[in-house]
Amino acid sequence: MFIRFALTAELHFNRDLTPEAVEAVGEAVQDANTLLFRKGVPADATDEEVGRITSYAVTGAVLRLEIVSGPYTRAHDALFRFRKEVAQKLGRHHLGLRNIVVTSFRIRIPGPVPESAVPRIPFITSADHHDDAVDLVLDLSAADLENRVPDRIVRLVQEKVAAQEYGGKGEHWELISESSRRERVYDGDPTQEMIRRRWIKHGASRGQWIFGPQAVEIFRAVERLVLDEIIKPLGFSEMIFPKLVPWEVWMRSGHAKGVYPEIYYVCTPKTRDPSYWEDIADYYKVTGTVPVDQIRERLDGPVGGMCYAQCPPFWPFVQGETLANDCLPIRVFDRSGTSHRYESGGIHGIERVDEFHRIEILWLGTREQTIATASRLHDLYTRLFEDVLELEWRCAKVTPWFMAQEGMVGESSDAEIGTRDYEACLPYNGSWLEFQNVSVNGDKYPKGFNVKIQSGEECWSGCSGIGLERWTAVLLAQKGFDRANWPERLARLVSEPEEVFRFL
Ligand code: SER
Ligand code: ZN
Repeated sequence: MFIRFALTAELHFNRDLTPEAVEAVGEAVQDANTLLFRKGVPADATDEEVGRITSYAVTGAVLRLEIVSGPYTRAHDALFRFRKEVAQKLGRHHLGLRNIVVTSFRIRIPGPVPESAVPRIPFITSADHHDDAVDLVLDLSAADLENRVPDRIVRLVQEKVAAQEYGGKGEHWELISESSRRERVYDGDPTQEMIRRRWIKHGASRGQWIFGPQAVEIFRAVERLVLDEIIKPLGFSEMIFPKLVPWEVWMRSGHAKGVYPEIYYVCTPKTRDPSYWEDIADYYKVTGTVPVDQIRERLDGPVGGMCYAQCPPFWPFVQGETLANDCLPIRVFDRSGTSHRYESGGIHGIERVDEFHRIEILWLGTREQTIATASRLHDLYTRLFEDVLELEWRCAKVTPWFMAQEGMVGESSDAEIGTRDYEACLPYNGSWLEFQNVSVNGDKYPKGFNVKIQSGEECWSGCSGIGLERWTAVLLAQKGFDRANWPERLARLVSEPEEVFRFL
């Protein structure tokens, strides 16, 4: 069983076809079926597997075609190959092709395809499920066909089938290395203890915290350690990445394929004319209620969302450029703002929140340079967790973050590409918390943003996210609040808590 396509289309010409023109069409069909559609097709492909025109009819100025195919020279590709040919041939008869109307388009995708694997998009008008295939009827224009929508629909269905098959196996997770067990000195939940000490308090928005001076001292101590132990030794330079991410960036980064349930969407006013907004402000002034529904009607967008993965909005800086060999590998980092994820039910303590702080490290260069930087990072992180912070940690290979964020499961096809998470044990509940990752992202980003390197070698990139909330949760969960139990370097970076607020 192989994939099958079938379409009918009308080619509309500027005037009626003459008998000579009809004859030319017949020749063109013959040519197409025997030669044109065979181009680039494996020699052993059967007739059934290759695109062919099964019937044609001329009525006045309209040429009606029926085309079927298997996987080679798919019916829609055949249509456009034939269009070029026939337009040329009929041009000689002073006939011009006006437009193409697709009157039907069907695809049969083999294999058991569950209903849930067929996307609910307006192009698909019906889906007929059989034990060994699904028949799709599509409503597509000629422009959709030229834009390869059928091929994308097929790929999407196949991806959904694969994801559901893989889904049963759960997320990819494979242990790479781990520390020895450490002596337990504390068994409390650091979030609860910080709340009790008034170091932090829930912000007014969901999944958001206000961090008081003592908590921020720990954040800054973490940053200091990362700067001294990782960023400076490897020579990363600081940049500031934007924190409002437009669709253009997420289309190139792949996030437009899957991140919708977790975005904090951003809208702009339809106009900044104060008179357009005056009644909204007045309504609030007299009622004390913000008229959210009315505001919604006066907004454009969403134009995109708040920073989600931190590194994608870096890429327009190098988009469309060719990088000189001698500046590679490029190593930069950003710590200029928050990331936002709509976490729904998953919010927990400071570990899982809607708004969080992170240092994002990013590097790019040749494949070798990119892999080498990741491996240097692993060495330095390991030293930091093991010798400096004396943590109980483990490192695991997981589904690459960029695949997970596109809604994909499984592993990357190239063993060098992927994400390793560092996880630390939380003694208070016995779970492991992912607090750090290192990823080799392959050529995904350079390709998506069209970045090349001078030598012509493939450009690769990698990134590593350091979550300040999570590092703090891990440090306090394992080391507690008594600084006498803290690793010396950390204790030195954090001063004795000072009472900045006193509540009566
Ligand atoms: N950009 C990566 C992520 O979002 C690493 O921080 O997971
Ligand atoms: Zn990243």
